[in-house]
Amino acid sequence: MTGPGWTGTVGLWAEVFDDVYRERPADPEFDVAGWHSKITGLPFSPAEMREWVDATVARIAGLRPRRVVEIGCGSGLLMWRLLHDCESYTGTDISGVAVSRLRKAVAERGAAHVHLACEEATAAAARHGSGADLVILNSVAQYFPSAAYLGAVLDGATAVLPDDGSVFVGDVRNADLLDALHLAALDGCTPGEQRERRERLRKSVASEPELLVSPHWFARYAAERGLSVRAMPKLGRFDNELNGFRYDVVLRRTPPPGRVVAPRDWAGAGALRSALDAGVLTGFRGVPHQGVHDLVERASLLLHGGGPAPARDALRPGDLTGALQADDLQVSLLTEDGPGTFGLAVGPGAGGAALPVAAAAPRLLTTVPWGTVP
Ligand SMILES: C[S@@+](CC[C@H](N)C(=O)[O-])C[C@H]1O[C@@H](n2cnc3c(N)ncnc32)[C@H](O)[C@@H]1O
Repeated sequence: MTGPGWTGTVGLWAEVFDDVYRERPADPEFDVAGWHSKITGLPFSPAEMREWVDATVARIAGLRPRRVVEIGCGSGLLMWRLLHDCESYTGTDISGVAVSRLRKAVAERGAAHVHLACEEATAAAARHGSGADLVILNSVAQYFPSAAYLGAVLDGATAVLPDDGSVFVGDVRNADLLDALHLAALDGCTPGEQRERRERLRKSVASEPELLVSPHWFARYAAERGLSVRAMPKLGRFDNELNGFRYDVVLRRTPPPGRVVAPRDWAGAGALRSALDAGVLTGFRGVPHQGVHDLVERASLLLHGGGPAPARDALRPGDLTGALQADDLQVSLLTEDGPGTFGLAVGPGAGGAALPVAAAAPRLLTTVPWGTVP
């Protein structure tokens, strides 16, 4: 559907975002209104948001896009950074306020290769995608009414792409970490009895209003359509919801031509040091994500009982970026050793290598957002 008049979940979010964008930002190219942590309920600091934008832009720039369609472009946080290196950039959004504001700012800057449209995600790729080599959906999927809607948007986006094109689905809220995220939010509240905490956690999880998606939903989606897929944890260093509980996905028609790395089970920081010293391409799976994995275990103990798992060295994916060039590092959420862990390839050619996609243990692949009509 084009233009205002949306109903249901899409209509509700259009109203919410119109209100968010009505406020005039001090810097129109860095408008972070509305960006709040789901853990603390507080706005992310400008430094956290700058790190997040920088890391997202770096990942997207690595795909070397020339003709971009961004679905749900919002205030243009990514657009302002990416448009200079593109032949064309089309931004679409359901917020009429966001689109008119961006149109005005783009005209003032004479950026004639930027086009903006007030449109719903399902219409955007089909109407604007032809000729694009990258479709971006960043921090948008959580507002979709259902996983089926997300699938329809991705079908539309992948259908218009050339063989070397990509779809970047960024800042996806991770359904594998639903319980852990809600426990993190509860940790900030007054402590209570174990039973009371369990009940509060159950209620909080059940009232999650947005669409959270497991990385394995994307793996299944890609396998069914013969696409290649990567799902990567964030590489920022702030210990916050963005870096711990959200991830980025790249879908491609043709897989990148890198070497396949068979990952070995994580044996701790010493094994990583030895691999780095040896300077050979090495893969690991089941690396506990620092600050996230312990929450996953604590949430599981609280909700389902059992004993604590043996302690393993944890790593923050972002800490690896200081020691390694982008070409020598790859992180993955699809090598599998349970929620709250990630896979890793390090060494020469690791950035372009193929880490295998493992079958996931049965689990909830997506949440059902509020307002969804089954
Ligand atoms: C959190 S903002 C992200 C903006 C931008 N992609 C970024 O990363 O900075 C989410 C945006 O998605 C838009 N949006 C939500 N649901 C949508 C839908 N069904 N179709 C198109 N845009 C949508 C909202 O209006 C909002 O501007």
